[in-house]
Amino acid sequence: MKRDFLAMEEWSPEAIDGLLALAARCKRGELLGGLERKVLAMIFLDPSLRTRSSMETAMFLHGGHALALEPGKGSWAMETELDVVMDGTTVEHIIEAARVLSRYADALAVRSFPKGTDWGVERLDPTIRNFARFADKPVINLESARRHPCQGLADAMTMREHLGETVGKRFVLSWAWHPKALPTAVPASAAIAAAHLGMEVTIARPDGYDLDSEDYLAIETLATARGGSLHITDDLDGAIEGAHVVYPKSWGALTHFGRPEEERAGREGKRDWRLTQERMRSTAAGRGIAMHCLPVRRNVEVDGEVLDGPNSAVIDQAENRLHAQRALLLELIGNR
Ligand code: CP
Repeated sequence: MKRDFLAMEEWSPEAIDGLLALAARCKRGELLGGLERKVLAMIFLDPSLRTRSSMETAMFLHGGHALALEPGKGSWAMETELDVVMDGTTVEHIIEAARVLSRYADALAVRSFPKGTDWGVERLDPTIRNFARFADKPVINLESARRHPCQGLADAMTMREHLGETVGKRFVLSWAWHPKALPTAVPASAAIAAAHLGMEVTIARPDGYDLDSEDYLAIETLATARGGSLHITDDLDGAIEGAHVVYPKSWGALTHFGRPEEERAGREGKRDWRLTQERMRSTAAGRGIAMHCLPVRRNVEVDGEVLDGPNSAVIDQAENRLHAQRALLLELIGNR
């Protein structure tokens, strides 16, 4: 049976620890080759800098090949809805795309953000789940409506590198103001990564900005099983005090999903939800690390002096995308 990587918590903690150990070996230069004559077919329904370039580099470094399609820009505009009459602008259905690419490639990888209309539909993560359903080869989630598990792997690897022992250490996911309502895939995945590491996870968010209840359940279940905990608060400064990791990230209010004007009104007066150098000084011994998946809006989500300062781990995080995905690809389709 094929094995997909759609959400970090769908793999066993032992399997995730195995990937993290393999990623560390990749980073130390201990693993060469392993993907000779292997092909990864990537479909980007939404833009990327890190995900695309790190995946292409990972395949190249181990002797394989990656191809990237951008539907509507050089490949056919893609239909993601099932049971649809395709008399509009889309030309190629994901059903055929998944089946055809499975004949060329050893694994498929898909990026598809939520369309921003109905959270009741998006919370089922239909696009990535349907790709996995119709593909005959492993499917890797490159960020869907609900999860960004490759980012989660890199986040876990980065926290282990910076903190050493992570069990019982304090991870704060801090909501940040942003001019747009962003998806919840990254914040949910970052908190799941911290939960995997057995950290005391705090989610600091204003009232009305809760993650999906299923996300809270996944984070709490995993954190508890691994020796950590989950706490939710609207006290940003109190949460950051004594934290070992602060992960500022913006996301839109799910209660207003699909209604951007209403959602925007809810964000008014919250520009102070931003990671500043003063807030970083209150972290554990003033040496807590600042993380962000990138891209980041400087001086909006995070102050430039934090990003450029000694506590910033954001470039390590971005580098670790490469090593974590090298490990994932070797595990899923490696020759050994
Ligand atoms: N963090 C991340 O996924 O970056 P990109 O959107 O540039 O791929």
